[in-house]
Amino acid sequence: MITIAAVNSKGGVGKTTLTSALAVRAAEDSPRVAMVDMDPQKSLVEWWKRRGKSDNPTIFEGAFTAGDAVEALTLDGWDYCLLDDPPAFLTLLQEMIEAADFTLIPVKASMVDLLATHDAVSLARTANALEYADVPRLALAMPVPCARSRSWLSLSTSVASGGRP
Ligand SMILES: Nc1ncnc2c1ncn2[C@@H]1O[C@H](COP(=O)(O)OP(=O)(O)OP(=O)(O)O)[C@@H](O)[C@H]1O
Ligand SMILES: [Mg+2]
Repeated sequence: MITIAAVNSKGGVGKTTLTSALAVRAAEDSPRVAMVDMDPQKSLVEWWKRRGKSDNPTIFEGAFTAGDAVEALTLDGWDYCLLDDPPAFLTLLQEMIEAADFTLIPVKASMVDLLATHDAVSLARTANALEYADVPRLALAMPVPCARSRSWLSLSTSVASGGRP
């Protein structure tokens, strides 16, 4: 199973939107895609309900931690697990990074948003989750680009040239 976590201690950066989009895309290739909504606001669950409670991607509920969810889904033979992080819960964010194969940090094109990525990057560094066998396991994602922003331009240039946080 491939587990992807969308994390950022900052709110409103696109974690849930990115998770739902990745889940829908993964479900085009795989019949067993599960999403885990770790946010007490349950925005991802609400999106899934309003979309008709699809079987694929589906919502997996009942696990207390991200690690428990990943373990249960792995044992049950699922192909993809998408984890959606709530803002501001650093302990949960760390658990999700540790449970995931890949971590995406959605970031908006502003300086305060860039600075807020520090939490996730340093926790990933502590968890030794930046890369595995030279394959990156952590990436910034810019779901809401702003072409006129200087920070967006410099960040996109850095990412395009292979830069990593
Ligand atoms: N790619 C995008 N293009 C335009 N708007 C977007 C995009 N991604 C997210 N948004 C908008 O940004 C807002 C925040 O998105 P979202 O709820 O996915 O963020 P979040 O990080 O999950 O927020 P929270 O921290 O509250 O859980 C929403 O209004 C959403 O529609
Ligand atoms: Mg959210």
